[in-house]
Amino acid sequence: LQSLADRVRPGFKIGAAVALGPLASDADYAQEFVGDFGAITPENAMKPQFLSPRQGVYTFEEADAILAMAESKGMTVHGHTIAFTEAMPRWMKELPTGSEEDRQASAEVLLDYITTVVTHFKGRLASLDVVNEPFDVDQGTSLQKNIWYQTFGPGYPAIVSQAVHDADPDVRQFINENGADVPGERQDALLDLARDTNAQGGHIYGVGLQSHVYDIETDAISTDDLTETLSNVQDAGLHARISENDVTDDEGTDIQAQQYADVLATCLSSPTCVSYTTWGVDDRYDWWVDDDGSVQQGHDLLFDEGHPTPAHQAMKQL
Ligand code: XIL
Repeated sequence: LQSLADRVRPGFKIGAAVALGPLASDADYAQEFVGDFGAITPENAMKPQFLSPRQGVYTFEEADAILAMAESKGMTVHGHTIAFTEAMPRWMKELPTGSEEDRQASAEVLLDYITTVVTHFKGRLASLDVVNEPFDVDQGTSLQKNIWYQTFGPGYPAIVSQAVHDADPDVRQFINENGADVPGERQDALLDLARDTNAQGGHIYGVGLQSHVYDIETDAISTDDLTETLSNVQDAGLHARISENDVTDDEGTDIQAQQYADVLATCLSSPTCVSYTTWGVDDRYDWWVDDDGSVQQGHDLLFDEGHPTPAHQAMKQL
């Protein structure tokens, strides 16, 4: 796929989220990944719960191993993520915020986390999700009241963004969210948040549009909608990345393939869309959570048990 991007839009990267386990242990997976993609997002290894399981203790080994592998292949790395409600270690979630003194002490701890992590990876990340999934789940448009919010208030994204910038001014900063890839209130809220953050001294380069299509009947992303989205992003003075695209094939592999090809083609045709990443490599290591909360093995990526899926073929033919 990366060769397609090299041909159609030189400099554009097509990436995948990866985990170290299969990368190290499964030669087919490594082969699919290395042969096909030009960029990498560590799927979990750079989340705070994995980088700092205990306060003041940092476990960079897994992320470093993924980065070393990417670097040895000349791949670009997208970091994921700093402020993310769902992926915090317990100690971080439970920092005290009851009094002004508490908040000041917790602010110091959180800023120290950012500085330590971003300094560790400095120069190795092309881009980074500084805030991930800021809004209330299920299409909400208000900020989740997580520890970042409780400590710094509603302007926390600007504080996070400034701290990241101080540690690595070259990394391109994104706010990443789901359900914002089609026009609507959630998208408006995301663009407003990014703009407000910059107005408050932040350094947000763009928005990540996760583009998970778990149900093609309700979440399909049409070419028209995505085109309008990218124009909205451009009007807001921002850039976009398709950051976590995956499409379940419950309605059939043809529809799935068409959806994948449409999203990639639309992104490739707009200078506002700066990269495209699919959330995983092969269905055998994929996951998603069903409506009833149960974890399903997916049928939604570009490889299945080592074989390219129809979606992969459709994208390759663009
Ligand atoms: C997911 C990973 O893919 C899983 O392995 C993990 O168990 C849970 O998190 N949006 C995001 C990602 O921004 O961080 C999530 O990743 C998928 C949804």
